Amino acid sequence: MITKRARRIRKNPAIRNMVRETSLAVNDLVQPIFVVEGEGIKHEIPSLTDIYHYSIDMLDEELKEISDLGIQAVIVFGLPNEKDEFGSQAYAEDGIVQNAISYIKKNYPELCVISDVCMCQYTSHGHCGIVTENGIVDNDETLKYLAKIAVSHAKAGADIVAPSDMMDGRVMAIRKALDEASYKDVGIMSYSAKYSSSLYGPFRDAAHSAPHFGDRKTYQMDPHNSREALKEMEYDVDEGADYLMVKPALLYLDVLREARNRFELPMVAYMVSGEYMMIKNAVRDGVFSEDVIYESVMSIKRAGADVIITYFAKLLARSFER
Ligand code: PBG
Ligand code: ZN
Repeated sequence: MITKRARRIRKNPAIRNMVRETSLAVNDLVQPIFVVEGEGIKHEIPSLTDIYHYSIDMLDEELKEISDLGIQAVIVFGLPNEKDEFGSQAYAEDGIVQNAISYIKKNYPELCVISDVCMCQYTSHGHCGIVTENGIVDNDETLKYLAKIAVSHAKAGADIVAPSDMMDGRVMAIRKALDEASYKDVGIMSYSAKYSSSLYGPFRDAAHSAPHFGDRKTYQMDPHNSREALKEMEYDVDEGADYLMVKPALLYLDVLREARNRFELPMVAYMVSGEYMMIKNAVRDGVFSEDVIYESVMSIKRAGADVIITYFAKLLARSFER
């Protein structure tokens, strides 16, 4: 005789909804935005279907839609016209990302503005830090720049700065610089466990940030490792991070779950450009129905993310409205 009947809790929609363990809502989502210099620009990014480069004067349409859909947070990436060895446009007071941040905060004060803190879009060599004569990314020298970049974003009005460079000691260096400049309430969302992944290709095309020589393996994490991710997070907690992140998301759900079990801080997952395009192309080609989008993003929530950065944020928010 069957004594256990698991199907009872799947009997009808009301019961299924009642016992649902995971929910995905619009306030879990962060929409990435790419801002370019110039005027009158709204160009679809060839490598990222349905995502656009905007000049600041064209941002309203996008920001209004985001805000009307109830999305509460954006992460902003700037593309400067000028690059140099030291990424000086990354901390320029009137740089593209600084101008974008202050525009958004001024006109959409209800939006939480997260700013990506890194150097790769701004350096002529495309690395995430200062490169020495022997072609090595100099950790400690880079920290001085990251601190300057973070303070410039805070000054422009960023609510949260998100270092994605993977240098050691960056959270501490940024926290100290923010505090000294009296931006005590600006949070740090650390890309703690950022893997050296092949899934960033579409983003690097979109942000013009691919390294011109070598790769990022001396600073981004080896995909084989998960204990190392917990170590990275432990360091970030000690250094004063307010949020921890795992990136990419879908291929690293095991890391996300372990991290969720271990740490109390809000856990962020970045569903990256390659994950977006895999799904986007599969749906376009009729391999799956659009339902795969919700299932994929929801699985990141189920694995333990509190916050999910995804290029699908607007699309999902629209589907929630129906
Ligand atoms: C910059 C940065 C990258 C991403 C976010 N910030 C690219 C990289 O490390 O090369 C990737 C985001 C994505 O693929 O969607 N360091
Ligand atoms: Zn970078």
